[in-house]
Amino acid sequence: MNFNLQSFEPSQSILLENEDLIRLYLEELCENALEDYYQETNKTRLATDYTIDGRKIYRSYDIRPEDTPNLTKLLINQGIEPFNYLVSVILGESDHSFKPHIDKQRHHSIMFIYKDSSAITQFFKEIKPKSGFFYNEDEIELTHSYELTEGNFYTFNHQIPHGVVNIGPDVRCHVTITLSTID
Ligand SMILES: [Fe+2]
Repeated sequence: MNFNLQSFEPSQSILLENEDLIRLYLEELCENALEDYYQETNKTRLATDYTIDGRKIYRSYDIRPEDTPNLTKLLINQGIEPFNYLVSVILGESDHSFKPHIDKQRHHSIMFIYKDSSAITQFFKEIKPKSGFFYNEDEIELTHSYELTEGNFYTFNHQIPHGVVNIGPDVRCHVTITLSTID
């Protein structure tokens, strides 16, 4: 792999080989997930459904490496072994945020941003143990803010507290290519 996952930055822009082709496959995964999100076609395996009072705040869809063999081959050929592809569709809470958290299983991934209208991804330092899945404001301190942009690839450390603000007016959609997990 020609990039460093153990970098000091929790997220960092990267370049892949055959990026244009990889992008086409990922865009198709995102289109399918968006169709499912809006029309509930149930064609893609739903991993997480976080809906409150009918507001679809967050949905993620799980795609296995063997479900998209050509994409997986393009990644394996450059030393990237995907554990899975997780497509996330994020509407956010009514304040246009998705609150700071640590992901359940994912550790390092490559993130591809498909749709985003200049949301800000924030990383935090934990100053107190969290009381629930999401951190309260007094439990964290902001350390990094990034504007991850459409069509680009980034490393992402899911085990550092992170959240998104400024989502919308449309949903944000991205794929994380999971490279390592914590269990
Ligand atoms: Fe996350």
